[in-house]
Formats: sequence, C-alpha cells, structure tokens
Amino acid sequence: MSEAPDLQTVLAEAFGLLARGVADRRHAFHTPTLATTGADGFPAARSVVLRGFEAEARRLRLHSDSRAAKVAELAADPRAALHFYDPGAAVQLRLAGRVTLHAADAVAEAAWAESRPFSRQCYAIGPAPGTPCPAPPAAPTDSEAGRPNFCAVLLHLSRLEWLHLAASGHRRARFTWPAEGPATATWLVP
Ligand SMILES: Cc1cc2nc3c(=O)[nH]c(=O)nc-3n(C[C@H](O)[C@H](O)[C@H](O)COP(=O)(O)O)c2cc1C
Repeated sequence: MSEAPDLQTVLAEAFGLLARGVADRRHAFHTPTLATTGADGFPAARSVVLRGFEAEARRLRLHSDSRAAKVAELAADPRAALHFYDPGAAVQLRLAGRVTLHAADAVAEAAWAESRPFSRQCYAIGPAPGTPCPAPPAAPTDSEAGRPNFCAVLLHLSRLEWLHLAASGHRRARFTWPAEGPATATWLVP
C-alpha cells in the first residue's frame, strides 16, 4: 500500500505525543478523558492522569482508587476509551481498548513505588470516593495508609484514531490491532 509509510509516520507521531504526555506534566496529553460504560448504562467520562505508555506493548497506565465508580464499571465491562486533544499540535487522539485492573500484583507495586508521596495521599481518603458527605473532608496526609485502595489500570490498545486539524485540509487516520488477524492502518475522510 503506497500510503503505508505516511501512516506509519502518523502512528509514530501519535505515540510520541503519548510518551510526551507521560513525561511532561504541562502537556495537554498528560490529562486525557477516560470513558467507560456506567453502571446505569450511560456513558461516563472523567479526566485522569496518563501515568505510563509502553509503545511496543501498546499499553497505557492510569491510576485510580479501587473504590472509585470507574473501577467497578471497568470490572463489569473492561472496554474503555481515552480521549486526548493537544491544541498546540491541533491533534486529537481517540483510543479504545480493554483494561486490566491491578490492585495487588507486581504491576500495582511498581506503580505505587513510582508514585510521589503527595499523589499517594489521595488514596487514604475515607470513606470511599463518591460517598455523599455533609461537608468536604480534610485532605489526607498519610502517604502509606492508602496503599490498599490503590489500583493501576492498564489499557491495552485495540484502536487509535488520529485527527489533525489544518487549514490546508484536515487529516484523519485509524489504526487497529485486532485480537485475531493483522494490524490495520487506513486514512479516513475527516
Ligand atoms: C486534571 C484531573 C486529573 C485527574 N486525574 C485522576 C486520576 O489520575 N485518577 C483518578 O482516579 N481520578 C482522577 N481525577 C478525578 C476524576 O476526574 C474523577 O472526578 C474521580 O476519579 C471520580 O471518578 P469516578 O467516580 O468516575 O470513578 C482527575 C481529575 C482532574 C480534573
């Protein structure tokens, strides 16, 4: 396919932006939107921090409190989408895949070990996130007590859609990695 080299360049750029989103706290790709299917069947979307990206394995890592609604939703239905938009590059990425949840294994231990003390403190909040309360609770200060509530979420990519906005013509491409069969790459009408 004559377009293949261009498409592979697009994919490399998209992966580069994801890597940057992990490394650069100020980059727009640092805080994507995670979409799940809510317990009531409605779509549910919220901001999360992109904590890790392994290009070879096509795996992204997020962190959450295991008591959070999103974790229950993902346990019930592991299909998820991640949305990114970088206004500087005028690039939107729409990712989809299935997640695995890691609360008490080596993935969780490694993720907890690399978390900063301030980030760890959130997991010590009580009662569970999302519980109605009479007033905002005090911020937790213990950076170890929350470990039992910590959950690493790995998103295993099966689809990536790239959209680049440009006055000269928008460009859109889709990449898939099906469970069965070869990977695909195609331009789409934007
Ligand atoms: C910029 C930003 C980053 C956030 N990062 C995370 C995160 O990495 N993990 C997380 O669980 N919640 C994060 N949150 C909070 C979620 O958006 C959400 O409010 C909370 O996790 C409850 O969602 P849930 O009830 O759907 O589980 C973040 C919120 C903002 C505004």
